[in-house]
Amino acid sequence: MGEALDTIAGEIAEYYERGREDGRLTSGHGLLEYSRTQVLLRRYLPDAPARVLDIGGGTGRYAAWLASEGYEVILIDPVALHVSQAQARAADQPFAALVGDARSLDFADGSFDAAISLGPL
Ligand SMILES: C[S@@+](CC[C@H](N)C(=O)[O-])C[C@H]1O[C@@H](n2cnc3c(N)ncnc32)[C@H](O)[C@@H]1O
Repeated sequence: MGEALDTIAGEIAEYYERGREDGRLTSGHGLLEYSRTQVLLRRYLPDAPARVLDIGGGTGRYAAWLASEGYEVILIDPVALHVSQAQARAADQPFAALVGDARSLDFADGSFDAAISLGPL
């Protein structure tokens, strides 16, 4: 998954490297998005404990929440800044955060009970 940084070079990487993503869900319409997404995840995810792959998980706000709910979460994201912010967040609510790309997942079939991808599409 180390190739992920190359695959999103250019405009997308430049946008996210501005560092605005971490605050996106904490004000304005982001609060509604966060709250509504929690409702939907509660509805559709299998009960905890279960293994969840958070693809394009950004800075780990959902991953941390899911970890606090008893899930084992692995987050992947191609933006190194997001992964380091997620790893810092994981100090409080443990989950794994790795550089990776949705288009080239490096996990065996059946490794997870659920996969979420909130935003990258
Ligand atoms: C709008 S943010 C959403 C982050 C988080 N899932 C959330 O809902 O708060 C979109 C995320 O997709 C990531 N992303 C962009 N291209 C990606 C790709 N090819 N594979 C995986 N993630 C990607 C970005 O780095 C960013 O963290």
